[in-house]
Amino acid sequence: MTRLLLIALSIAVVTQPKRFAVYRITPQTSDALQFLENLTKETAIDFWKEPRAVGQEVHAMIPDPKAGAILDSLRSRNISYSMMIEDVEKIIKNQKFARMKLKSERRQKDFRDGKVDFNLAEYHSFADVINYFNALAITYPHLVSVQPIGLTHEGRQIPMIKITNKRLSGPKRGIWIDGGIHAREWISPSTVLYFIHQLINGYDQDPIIRRYVDGMEWHLTPLLNPDGYEYSRSSTDPEIRLWRKNKSPSKCTTTAQGLFAPPQTTCCQGVDLNRNFDWFFGQVGSSTDPCSEIYNGAYAFSEPETRSVRDFISQHPMTTFVTLHSYSQILMYPFGHQVRTYSNDLDDLRNTALSAANALQRMYGTTYKVGTGADTLYPASGGSEDWAKGKGGVKYSYLFELRPEEQVWDGFLLPENQIMPTARETWEAIKVIATHTLSVP
Ligand code: ARG
Ligand code: ZN
Repeated sequence: MTRLLLIALSIAVVTQPKRFAVYRITPQTSDALQFLENLTKETAIDFWKEPRAVGQEVHAMIPDPKAGAILDSLRSRNISYSMMIEDVEKIIKNQKFARMKLKSERRQKDFRDGKVDFNLAEYHSFADVINYFNALAITYPHLVSVQPIGLTHEGRQIPMIKITNKRLSGPKRGIWIDGGIHAREWISPSTVLYFIHQLINGYDQDPIIRRYVDGMEWHLTPLLNPDGYEYSRSSTDPEIRLWRKNKSPSKCTTTAQGLFAPPQTTCCQGVDLNRNFDWFFGQVGSSTDPCSEIYNGAYAFSEPETRSVRDFISQHPMTTFVTLHSYSQILMYPFGHQVRTYSNDLDDLRNTALSAANALQRMYGTTYKVGTGADTLYPASGGSEDWAKGKGGVKYSYLFELRPEEQVWDGFLLPENQIMPTARETWEAIKVIATHTLSVP
């Protein structure tokens, strides 16, 4: 009897789901920073915000079984930390519940974009986006074409929508905007969908938008990583909801454990697509460990998603390239692979970014930092905005880290009521960038 009880108990212990908490950690000395940088090799920890500099906060999601030892080591080094999210899964579940409730309440008065039913104020599935695109193409044939740019590992199409006044031929400036390269950054696809809606619905009413749609070809790819996005929607398990990479097949590595222990093999899935572009590939800020969140892949453009971007842009030259991420509220221009490294038209890129960030702030007061990824966040090689400028032949190349700012606790778990304000303010910045795009000689 007691034996049975024991077995039942141990099964219960084993099947208990891991609990995840997020900690805010601030290194105050270079030793502390060094220690945190070494911790990033520990793949059990998911750094929502990686260590960058002394005094700059770090956000780390740590599973329960590991937390004790890690927090002990922080305390023994006098590194201060506080709890940011106590139970990540609880937040995910609450948000999911709130979403379902809102959805059923809203069903009757869905957002109408004039002719096509689509509620911009909620997070959508891949299938919803495909249906929305098809409805737009049927409803606005003179403005819209749907043109997938490639197939993912799991066989999904990467949807792209092209918006331009098809009745006007002649040379037009190309502008590229993508979202969702990182699966968990849900606000970024939603923001691109809002841009699409603005371009199509503003065409008849707003002379500025008409100028943008007559004079430019807009290429909008809201879900650059549909496999990862759908995976992150498939469960409230923090390891799934907070998936960052694509869903490339599992890669195994075997490491020796010393003389008397057998070597260990670990297998992990997914490549960090924003380390897989051909720009200082495999250098600082990326990893060759398939289990790392910043695994750069076997070689540059090893992934169908990044190859699709490269192939499309080399066949359709762009004046402007914009890629949306979250979170931190930073507007970045190249180059991000190394600190204090810039293009020779830095002043132009920087001034355009500053006016874009100003326009954004004018809407709700949201403040953005402006600079290169390396100067404002951390150096990372193989990024798309760097490749676009350095090799992709683009004039203006920008990366937005959208809401929230780092002081806010929700990070990647931005609630749905933030979608519209985030999208509206970001659109103000995009209009500035579009105006500059139009005036490129
Ligand atoms: N959060 C982005 C990432 O990790 C920032 C990349 C900035 N770009 C860069 N080349 N450093 O992918
Ligand atoms: Zn990202």
